[in-house]
Amino acid sequence: MTSTASVRHFLRDDDLTPAEQREVLELGLGFREDRFIRTPLRGPQAVAVIFDKPSTRTRVSFSVGIAELGGYPLVIDAASSQLGRGEPIADTARVLDRQTSAIVWRTFGQERVEEMARVATVPVVNALTDEFHPCQILADLLTVAQLRGGVDSLAGTSLVYLGDGANNMAHSYLLGGVTAGMHVRIGAPAGFLPDPAVVADAERIARDTGGSVLVTTDAVEATRGADVVATDTWVSMGDEASAAERELPFVPYQVNAELMAVAVDDALVLHCLPAYRGKEITAEVIDGPQSAVWDEAENRLHAQKALLTWLLDRS
Ligand code: CP
Ligand code: NVA
Repeated sequence: MTSTASVRHFLRDDDLTPAEQREVLELGLGFREDRFIRTPLRGPQAVAVIFDKPSTRTRVSFSVGIAELGGYPLVIDAASSQLGRGEPIADTARVLDRQTSAIVWRTFGQERVEEMARVATVPVVNALTDEFHPCQILADLLTVAQLRGGVDSLAGTSLVYLGDGANNMAHSYLLGGVTAGMHVRIGAPAGFLPDPAVVADAERIARDTGGSVLVTTDAVEATRGADVVATDTWVSMGDEASAAERELPFVPYQVNAELMAVAVDDALVLHCLPAYRGKEITAEVIDGPQSAVWDEAENRLHAQKALLTWLLDRS
């Protein structure tokens, strides 16, 4: 709530260095073990959690997490606030940062969270934009660490993401995955491939961490030997107008038993949810023994508590 030049934000996955991401994940595993291991928001400190788009998991996990950290979640639907009526982002930032300890925001363009962070004197956290969903990837990494031998097990693990390669999840898997030293593969149809600038950033990070990046239109090649198989809806929030065109090109990328057969035998299945059974994933797979999606959803809570604690410690 006080002005500081050193305030840290989390707008993209690569806002954390590999060492910093590891600290957050270790703390997240700590919160999994003991929900009240740290309570940094002493007293009735508020954290603003703003939604320009719908949410179930993000709304619940930030609300519960902020309360468990000892704070007060101030959940604001943009449609019912002046932000939704066009009040400038910078003006909103100046009002919020005098009364809250952090600002968590789900919105449209990445430039909106960047503008909030330029002005705010408290940490700003991206709770999903059109381009990135970095809190989700922290939870996904935590899930792999939880189920596969800790944070050390992440480096060298191969993760394939199948489906819409141009969406927020694909971009965040690229950046967050290579930051953890993973081999990240994107299998997506032509016309739905990741932003080349994000791929270039991921390749640069991978050179330092020992990870790697593969982008291909061949779903089988992408999935062969993968340790983790992830997917997401073919129609992200905001893409509804093109829903009809987002059906046929994606069919070969459906996560089903046939595709799972080319991954390693005990490959983990991740999906950020909400899931559309029969579209991007079959019921057999998401409700089957390799699915880790409920741990993944719970880990939003632990990962975000760790992230907020880490950011508040440094701001
Ligand atoms: N995975 C995720 O962000 O879910 P919500 O849209 O329900 O928050
Ligand atoms: N790509 C999806 C993620 C939902 C959590 C969307 O943006 O709608």
